[in-house]
Amino acid sequence: MAKSHLELTGVEMAFDTAKGPFIALENVDLKIQKGEFVSLIGHSGCGKSTVLNIVAGLLQASKGGCVLDGHEVNSPGPERAVVFQNHALMPWLTVYENVELAVRQVFRKSMSRQERKDWITHNLELVNMAHAANKRPGEISGGMAQRVGIARALAMKPSVLLMDEPFGALDALTRAHLQDSLMDIQQELNNTVIMITHDVDEAVLLSDRIIMMTNGPAATVGEDLYIDLPRPRNRVALADDARYVRYRQEVLSFLYEKQRKLESLSTRRSGKASAQESGGQAVKQVSA
Ligand SMILES: Nc1ncnc2c1ncn2[C@@H]1O[C@H](COP(=O)(O)OP(=O)(O)OP(=O)(O)O)[C@@H](O)[C@H]1O
Ligand SMILES: [Mg+2]
Repeated sequence: MAKSHLELTGVEMAFDTAKGPFIALENVDLKIQKGEFVSLIGHSGCGKSTVLNIVAGLLQASKGGCVLDGHEVNSPGPERAVVFQNHALMPWLTVYENVELAVRQVFRKSMSRQERKDWITHNLELVNMAHAANKRPGEISGGMAQRVGIARALAMKPSVLLMDEPFGALDALTRAHLQDSLMDIQQELNNTVIMITHDVDEAVLLSDRIIMMTNGPAATVGEDLYIDLPRPRNRVALADDARYVRYRQEVLSFLYEKQRKLESLSTRRSGKASAQESGGQAVKQVSA
């Protein structure tokens, strides 16, 4: 069998909190092949961003680990670009300069100054932000900043693209446009994508696989659903496709039936788990 491109093995993530260690993730095992588009879906607070941050090298698992192309991941790297949940742009740089910073880091040697300039503009045009190239993050809306974050990540031509709810803050039309662009780019570059989303339709439309995570604490992979729909995919045509509708129902049923039942059972069974969870949530609020 082919070796995995990206592999998480036995990942546990324990956060230190005032009430003691909070086990956010436990026994997370995940194998991803080169060029796969994988979505992570699960209830708020289950640990999706934590998984993504471990792959990004921004967090170190307390047990187990992440291996990319045979190398252990323990720090960030330009081959793994991240689009953060709350668009993390440098506030003192303009929109153009934010993208330029990343492009210079990756292509300083391989592209001429003019090529870099054209490439930055191309990526800003892709997300419809070229008109605001000279504005600073404080002068644009949240949705616009999110689009710059997406342009910055795409401009790095990463072999792994990590996206934390990238389209959540966008209006429906912009979101559809960017989803279609992302599908085209991913087909062309064959990069591996891990995307967190709360949107079931988005997950089914874009993904080769949907990883459904159980509720935390000690969250893990609940179900792993392969989306066997031909590409290129057309959102309008798929709306009536029986397979699309079935995939969608499977995800909805996991989120709103299976996970809800588990949640109420475990709450009844153990007060300990919920006490632990509230410890973790308190920390999250403080850090937000
Ligand atoms: N630095 C931290 N210290 C303590 N607990 C944390 C820390 N970061 C995250 N947690 C806790 O770990 C759990 C998982 O958090 P995470 O941010 O990964 O969830 P999520 O699935 O991305 O949620 P959302 O959908 O709301 O973004 C939560 O209970 C959170 O409170
Ligand atoms: Mg998150």
